[in-house]
Amino acid sequence: MSNYHIKHLEEYYQVYRKSVRNPEVFWAEIAEEHFMWRKKWDKVLSWDFSKPEIKWFEGAKLNITENCIDRHLYTRGDKTAILFEPNNPNEEAQHITYKQLHERVCRFASVLYEQGIRKGDRVCIYLPMIPELAVAVLACARIGAIHSVVFAGFSANALATRVNDADCKMVITSDGSYRGAKTIDLKGIVDEALKQCSCVETVLVAKRINSKINMKEGRDLWLQPLLDDAYHDFPPEEMNAEDPLFILYTSGSTGQPKGMVHTTAGYMVYTAYTFKNVFQYREEDVYWCTADIGWITGHSYIIYGPLCNGATTVMFEGVPSYPDFSRFWQIVEKHKVNQFYTAPTAIRALAKEGVSHVEKHDLSSIKVLGTVGEPINEEAWHWYDDNVGKKKAPIVDTWWQTETGGIMITPIPFATPTKPTYATLPFIGIQPALMDENGEEISGNQVDGRLCVKFPWPSIARTIWGNHQRYKDTYFSAYENKYFTGDGALRDEVGYYRITGRVDDVIIVSGHNLGTAPIEDTINEHPAVVESAIVGFPHDIKGSALYGYVTLKETGETRNQDNLRKEINQIITEQIGPIAKLDKIQFTNGLPKTRSGKIMRRILRKIASNDTSNLGDTSTLLNPEVVQEIMDNAL
Ligand code: PRX
Repeated sequence: MSNYHIKHLEEYYQVYRKSVRNPEVFWAEIAEEHFMWRKKWDKVLSWDFSKPEIKWFEGAKLNITENCIDRHLYTRGDKTAILFEPNNPNEEAQHITYKQLHERVCRFASVLYEQGIRKGDRVCIYLPMIPELAVAVLACARIGAIHSVVFAGFSANALATRVNDADCKMVITSDGSYRGAKTIDLKGIVDEALKQCSCVETVLVAKRINSKINMKEGRDLWLQPLLDDAYHDFPPEEMNAEDPLFILYTSGSTGQPKGMVHTTAGYMVYTAYTFKNVFQYREEDVYWCTADIGWITGHSYIIYGPLCNGATTVMFEGVPSYPDFSRFWQIVEKHKVNQFYTAPTAIRALAKEGVSHVEKHDLSSIKVLGTVGEPINEEAWHWYDDNVGKKKAPIVDTWWQTETGGIMITPIPFATPTKPTYATLPFIGIQPALMDENGEEISGNQVDGRLCVKFPWPSIARTIWGNHQRYKDTYFSAYENKYFTGDGALRDEVGYYRITGRVDDVIIVSGHNLGTAPIEDTINEHPAVVESAIVGFPHDIKGSALYGYVTLKETGETRNQDNLRKEINQIITEQIGPIAKLDKIQFTNGLPKTRSGKIMRRILRKIASNDTSNLGDTSTLLNPEVVQEIMDNAL
């Protein structure tokens, strides 16, 4: 029996038991047999959740790109590593082989080196879903620079915050991007952002849309001529197991975004191992994850996990609705995709358009379907199962987080029987716990509580960049000696987990994590606004959407309320990005507050969800009169 590839349920239980009884022996075996090391580790694991400090494979030396690329050159050099499908269906797809990827990454690494980037430097990557994005990520990893990919839908302000927080020396971007029928001026956004960033010395610009852009003398360089002149081989930098590989920002319920730091060896081992099993990837398969590389799903399951396994991974530049809603299925048919991994929000959006789009295409290549990012509702699950998988392809509902680096709770296809809306069983090595209100672990089945993890796994984020205290406070302080996820979950009679959603002030809109406080702070900058509160409410397609309660300085504000709403969404778009726009904005004369001045969000959530039959205890409210007024004017 190979512990690396699990095929049956009994095997899963057997390997799982082994992985929790003796994690060090288990992970050492996986690491030893399936990866390339320059030097083996001295110690498999040391950890202390109270500090918190977690180290895997300490003393080992490696380079992740050697594992993702070089080691495949002899066995699968001519196999497609990255299959790039452009936004425009009439533009030809690109099949980038492992050999070609090697050369492109080496050239890019040489350019980074020539431009003064060294091990440990931070490089911000702000690119659309074009091959240069994956190549830039891998080039950073090759020379040991820490990449910080910022999703190219974020605004100039959001980009600037991230560039400054990580003190990036370089930004890699493009002249623009395609998004369906639209083009976006990415370079203009970078220029705007960099007015606020003094740390950036160089901006490398890839050409994508051939637009006329400004190039700032002494700072901006076109990428292609540099690549053309670069050396086609670049030796991988020898990295320590615990050297940072990347920073990726995620929203917190308050304050600045958190720069989650992932390190090298543990992240590599865990993403590769989960990829192999969760998608049951076989040598000839074509795997497609529709996420953007700007999110953790793209890092772990478009780039690192698949490439470590020598897979063919599809990178799609466009959107599901362009040129029409059959685009995903047209791509599945065209490239004979075997594993398809997407988000519930995309499934719901496509389901709404009807099955005709799906039926037009031959989807018989699909073996496994995946979903990630938010709870999947039963209706969407069945639509996916019936129409895309034709009831033959198991759905892996994978629960995990930016912080966890890899998939944590998931079925293993063809082994774990699936159950709609359930992420089912912990993956190998993962020890979940449900906690009650008093901080005690809840044992047994048919229970619900707050989801924690009791034991470290190899790809857990090690810190928040520049703020270890916040890392400790956010994840390790709610429950002693446990990692707290911020999610609620229930465990059914057979031990399957169902994630019920966030229990903090993070709202997941179309699969994107949004903290309420940063949006409120932004709204409050509007000169007409006194204060605001954001809550989530159920939305057919987005899962949750944002409802804002906004108190204006002057009651009876004379300006047109619709204009004010537009202005508020405009500031949000500028400061954060269009993903954080509010679906509903209700103007109020006040917000319900406790005597200590805290906004009682529970009430606002109920009103936004149109669930006002029982508002719960309101006796501690300082201003109960506003509740009725808010209910009367609810949107
Ligand atoms: O609330 C959970 C939800 O997404 C959060 C993590 O978001 P992010 O860090 O952006 O990573 C998303 C991609 C891994 C979680 O705390 N979430 C993620 N997957 C699921 C989910 N909720 C329910 N079911 C899932 N499968």
